[in-house]
Amino acid sequence: MSQSTAALFDQMHARSLSDPEGFWADAAKDIAWFKPYDRVLDDSAAPFYRWFVGGELNTCYNAVDRHVEDGRGAQAAIIYDSPVTQTVQTISYAELQDQVARFAGALRAQGVEKGDRVLLYMPMIPQSVVAMLACARLGAVHSVVFGGFAPHELATRINDSTPKVIVSASCGIETNRVIKYKPMLDAAIEQADHKPAHVIVLQRPQETASMIPGRDVDWVEAAAAAEPAACVPVAATDPLYILYTSGTTGQPKGVVRDNGGHAVALRWTMRNIYNVQPGEVYWAASDVGWVVGHSYIVYAPLLTGATTLVFEGKPVGTPDAGTFWRVIEQHKVGTLFTAPTAFRAIKREDPDALLLKKYDLSHFRALFLAGERSDPDTLHWAEDHLKVPVIDHWWQTETGWAISGNPLGVHLFPIKYGSATRPMPGWDVRVLNAELQEVPRGDIGAICVKLPLPPGTLPTLWNADERFKKSYLADYPGYYQTGDAGFIDDDGYVYVMARTDDIINVAGHRLSTGAMEEVLSSHKDVAECAVIGVADDLKGQVPLGFVCLKAGVSRPHEDIVKEVVQMVRDQIGPVADFKRALVVERLPKTRSGKILRGTMQKIADSADYKMPATIDDPGILPEIAEALKTLGYAKTSAIPQ
Ligand code: COA
Ligand code: AMP
Repeated sequence: MSQSTAALFDQMHARSLSDPEGFWADAAKDIAWFKPYDRVLDDSAAPFYRWFVGGELNTCYNAVDRHVEDGRGAQAAIIYDSPVTQTVQTISYAELQDQVARFAGALRAQGVEKGDRVLLYMPMIPQSVVAMLACARLGAVHSVVFGGFAPHELATRINDSTPKVIVSASCGIETNRVIKYKPMLDAAIEQADHKPAHVIVLQRPQETASMIPGRDVDWVEAAAAAEPAACVPVAATDPLYILYTSGTTGQPKGVVRDNGGHAVALRWTMRNIYNVQPGEVYWAASDVGWVVGHSYIVYAPLLTGATTLVFEGKPVGTPDAGTFWRVIEQHKVGTLFTAPTAFRAIKREDPDALLLKKYDLSHFRALFLAGERSDPDTLHWAEDHLKVPVIDHWWQTETGWAISGNPLGVHLFPIKYGSATRPMPGWDVRVLNAELQEVPRGDIGAICVKLPLPPGTLPTLWNADERFKKSYLADYPGYYQTGDAGFIDDDGYVYVMARTDDIINVAGHRLSTGAMEEVLSSHKDVAECAVIGVADDLKGQVPLGFVCLKAGVSRPHEDIVKEVVQMVRDQIGPVADFKRALVVERLPKTRSGKILRGTMQKIADSADYKMPATIDDPGILPEIAEALKTLGYAKTSAIPQ
């Protein structure tokens, strides 16, 4: 039995590469089309590929209305569980349809039509899902910005996406702190060159935001006054959303997602990767501001007719490390998807999982982890205590769904710790060297994907076709460059080891050290700087800054460190978790002047490393090690000769 399902998966994968049009045309039958597509894959403008050209659909119709028409109106679409406000609320598909149609009407009343952008700055409440779906209903393009970003980052995204309307809430709640969103939004709009026509604000009981007459509109009043809006047919290739993600500079990349390919791919993944059926409860413990939230809190479960859980809390502290188990029991969650860091947080508080024993997890079937490398310790811990498959799968904001994973709905391959298992259908994964050649199995190189990418992946970057080509397609012609390094073993398992660029992963959140360096170098006393990601038991990595001061600066170093830490918090946001910095005399560089960040990181993590052949002055490395020791890093580092 198990051998035949393994063979079935192999066949699926082979077919998806040899006959992508046939493979994805079959998957497209699960989506309701207003107008059938003319071609499954249009490669006439390669390397820009488009899926399901000529087809028309509406993503909101497929995620909501269709299920009501099919008799799921009374079924829960959303369960909102908020330990921080002591709220549990269930919203049926019929109620969701009503709320979304009304809010779409409210957006339209503020001038939003097909193709217009709407920016969302929202906490983890059901209204965030409603607002996203309302945009999809109108054919408007949403761009959700994570609540932990500061006004400056928000302003950058406002300028780039030029939204007609911004939707926000008066506050978010971080464990027991009320985070006022509206003043941050007002500051961002003040900073931005582009001004939205209107801001719709949901007033939460915990905080009443002050409103700007003429511009700001109350959510409840606007929805009550609105004429419910019907689903607007859009082209399969029209954008559904823009989601900004960290690039190598302070200017984030606007990843574009289309409607048709996205709906087809996500619906397919729910059955084949996650093994989730309509009517089941699926929980992605992430945030709507990240791609995991877009794909697996909102679209995939709702396209499936499943129940999605919107959780406003943390794995620990709301109120304790048993929260996840309580939610799983109370709402009969079958599948949980979160980042390894959440499990490290739980494991740290409750190493023997004593709290787990209080709950009945008999409905629970599988745990999926992504967002960062799953460390074997955490994986073992979760397996030992939960006694369900624990699946590491690898993906990116750009891809929208898993590049490699373990397809639970088809076959559960034996788990190898440290590997995100096998490439999923549609993904022709290759590991290449700098000469653009495939490396032997087991050798590390740049992980690339042979074009075309499957449906649901980014067709381009918002208003930046050239940047899209330069960032992902230029270095390895004919391939998509993932930006991750790793290897494939003899059994075809993919191991993702590290980024090849200056992106770091902090608590499953993707951040650019380049963006942080831009902030540090704007400090008046800083001559040059470097930011690296150092290993952290809880968050996987945390950023650490090095600053060299301008000649003649004699102010106390502690003051300068405090100031740069505050500057990153103010300009990028608390999510960057930039709390550590060191003042050093000089930075290690190559003879051509490139800062040796990789070497500094290895010294910090007490890892083995080779003296870079091109280093200009090896004598700087012991200085860096000494400085790092003052913060508890570089514990055992011996500088090689
Ligand atoms: N709005 C405002 N501030 C936010 C925020 C939001 N939506 N989300 C996070 N922040 C703030 C936090 O309050 C914290 O601020 P602080 O420096 O004042 O304490 C800072 O940003 C860092 O947040 P975070 O990295 O989440 O750290 P944490 O200590 O609050 O929680 C974990 C650590 C591991 C429990 C948490 O990151 C987590 O649950 N992660 C797993 C799930 C996940 O989000 N994965 C993402 C992709 S799958
Ligand atoms: P994001 O775009 O925020 O989803 O971050 C994507 C990046 O996170 C990837 O390029 C990887 O570096 C990392 N990542 C995500 N999932 C995994 C995983 N399962 N294993 C290793 N790295 C991962």
